[in-house]
Amino acid sequence: MRSIMVLNSKGGSGKSTIATSIASYYATQGKKVLLVDFDSQASSLDWLAARPSGRSSITGINGAGGHFRVPRSADYVIYDTPAAVHGAELSAFLRRPQSIIVPILPSPIDMRAATPFVQKLLDYGRVARKEARVALIANRCREHYNVYHQLDTYLRKVRKAPFISALRETQNYVRAAERGLGIFELPPYLVRKDLDQWDPIIRWLNSKRSQPRT
Ligand SMILES: Nc1ncnc2c1ncn2[C@@H]1O[C@H](COP(=O)(O)OP(=O)(O)OP(=O)(O)O)[C@@H](O)[C@H]1O
Ligand SMILES: [Mg+2]
Repeated sequence: MRSIMVLNSKGGSGKSTIATSIASYYATQGKKVLLVDFDSQASSLDWLAARPSGRSSITGINGAGGHFRVPRSADYVIYDTPAAVHGAELSAFLRRPQSIIVPILPSPIDMRAATPFVQKLLDYGRVARKEARVALIANRCREHYNVYHQLDTYLRKVRKAPFISALRETQNYVRAAERGLGIFELPPYLVRKDLDQWDPIIRWLNSKRSQPRT
């Protein structure tokens, strides 16, 4: 079973958008997907409730109470997390995933805030021992904005976490989300650019680089 968590203590960085996109991607690949929502706002479960019944099925679990069981039969378990996690709650979350994706908005405030957060993740025992692997994604990037240069300026100290992709700002995510769909389920001609930007994320998730070092 693969376990993937989307995490950033900063609100509104795209955690739920990315968690639901990953869940729908693997569901459309015929995998048995479990979407665990740790956020009491339950955006991911709301998304799932809007999902048309004819689409590849995804099982939702409300993780906000802390007590739930992950069925062994799942191929993928995707965790969406709330904003402002720290301390004991963050430690409890970090016991679960093999792979952690941190979405970061490309604004100076968000990038500055992400630096100590990512550093804390990298120093956490399981991550430091490479039992859980971290990757960063820039999200809601305006076109022609040199996000890699900007991220480099702010996140120089955390080079150990790879930057795997920059997702553009587009209404495609908003439209897909309101219908309970992922970006992968919109008409291909609308999302060609987005799929190109997702390609390195999927490749990372499907590679050994995102999995515990054995
Ligand atoms: N690449 C994108 N392009 C356009 N809109 C986006 C993109 N990514 C996310 N959004 C929108 O930004 C808003 C915040 O995204 P989302 O809810 O995924 O963030 P979050 O990190 O889960 O927020 P919270 O911390 O409140 O849980 C949503 O309205 C979402 O539709
Ligand atoms: Mg959310």
